[in-house]
Amino acid sequence: MKKKEIIIKYDEYEKDDLLTSEDLELLNEARNALKGSYAPYSNFHVGAAVLLDNGKIIRGSNQENAAFPSGLCAERVALFHAKSEFPDAEVKSLAITASADHFNNNEPVTPCGSCRQVIAETEKRQSNRIRIIMKGDSGIIRILNGIEGLLPMMFHEELLKKNK
Ligand code: THU
Repeated sequence: MKKKEIIIKYDEYEKDDLLTSEDLELLNEARNALKGSYAPYSNFHVGAAVLLDNGKIIRGSNQENAAFPSGLCAERVALFHAKSEFPDAEVKSLAITASADHFNNNEPVTPCGSCRQVIAETEKRQSNRIRIIMKGDSGIIRILNGIEGLLPMMFHEELLKKNK
């Protein structure tokens, strides 16, 4: 038996003005996306914005449903929209933010497990990692270069193939 460990590396910024203008713009687009959030059940609004390598920015927000599992997270709304409109474009970055009706959310919002799996699949379809930029209403910003840190030992397409 061997004990092993996985180390996750990410960047943490104290203030927005320390970000690159590209990251800051994407985060602002994620914040703008909050306007389209439909979250009457959780009262937790999530906004996401995807930057493609063709320069386009696609926004998404969480869309809830009275039949709870029929709703969808902001990240998947944005990613699915981006890849269906521009299937050949690579996703460079994904910015995520959230705002709650009843408290000040100053923790960076992290993608849920299902969204992590979708980010992983999107990354596998392209040559480059996806930068993930996360912020709450206020407070610090966290940036990861690639999904691996958020989804270690992920399930991916090669695992479906028979071992030779
Ligand atoms: N939500 C997202 O949109 N993205 C996440 O990464 C976490 C959760 C949404 C789903 C639901 O509408 C609300 O936040 C509360 O879970």
